[in-house]
Amino acid sequence: MTFIRNAWYVAGWSRDFGRSLTPLTIMDEDIVVYRTEAGRAVALTDECPHKRLPLSMGKLKGDAVECGYHGLTFGCDGKCLRVPGQSNLPSSAWVRSYPLHEARGIVWIWMGEAEKADPALAFDMPEFDDPRWAPHYGDALQLESHYLPVADNLCDPAHVSFVHPTTLGSAASEDVPIQCERQGRTVITSRWIKDAPPVGFFKAFGNFGGNVDRWHYYYMHAPNVAVIDFGSAAAEDAIGEDERDRGVRLFALHFLTPVSETRTVDHWMHLRNIGLDDEEMGARMNEQFRIAFAEDKAIMEAIQQRERKPPARKPVRIAIDRGPNFLRRIIAEMAAEEAPREAVQAAG
Ligand code: FES
Ligand SMILES: [Fe+2]
Repeated sequence: MTFIRNAWYVAGWSRDFGRSLTPLTIMDEDIVVYRTEAGRAVALTDECPHKRLPLSMGKLKGDAVECGYHGLTFGCDGKCLRVPGQSNLPSSAWVRSYPLHEARGIVWIWMGEAEKADPALAFDMPEFDDPRWAPHYGDALQLESHYLPVADNLCDPAHVSFVHPTTLGSAASEDVPIQCERQGRTVITSRWIKDAPPVGFFKAFGNFGGNVDRWHYYYMHAPNVAVIDFGSAAAEDAIGEDERDRGVRLFALHFLTPVSETRTVDHWMHLRNIGLDDEEMGARMNEQFRIAFAEDKAIMEAIQQRERKPPARKPVRIAIDRGPNFLRRIIAEMAAEEAPREAVQAAG
């Protein structure tokens, strides 16, 4: 399974990078990230083109990186500035510089063709600027899984009843059908569970006296960003689908970054419409998310182990697979767009 390169991926939270050389691996490419003296984030290939020492083992010299072996020095654009002991700079002495975009406390990296790296394509949502919403940053969860099964999981509200029984789900939702649609490169899966006791998360934060109406809208923006709009409102209020702001409402954001064919990082965070100044509430919510996402991780990793062996039979297909099927189709379309012409000709 290949990766979609022409998209913005999260390299890390803004707080992760400073005046030091931070190594990362994305799509099997070794990358070093640092900040210039002025504070701008820079990403270069983390390998000296001389003897292949990781540049992250070298030193920051002003805005440039000096290799720790023989001192070849590269600027933010990846051009070689110095070869100690000689005045000519070999034309092959350069490293790739990756386009970065930083906003909302997030550093995004573009893994594809640099001329297509338009910052306007990076994920954003207006609630970040809206005083009725509070953002709260989470963790970088490492999963021993290819990113696509993780992305499938983010088109799949049905699993919540079974995988997250103490936090986000309950048996009350087991048999409620899932709505599913595709809008461009986004898969939207949703359902409402009406007039049921609040699940653990909303018992902890909702202060509800009786039953609630609970919703899940999963927006999976292919290939790598999921926005999960979920919440609860008192059942007696009988709110409409478009009145979700009247309830306790959250957006859980997941930014998937493939590390390799077998590993993914999920940077997750949330925005909420209650406890706007209550950092401690955000931290307690994150504790619940940590429980839930560790449950997802266990599932993803067990499946990946099984997928190392060829399947003995064709998988059973059921109605809730529509969302992941849409996603896989979108990914195939994006991959075909990126495939070199020869590969497309060979396939066709
Ligand atoms: S390996 Fe980097 S300068 Fe020799
Ligand atoms: Fe989950």
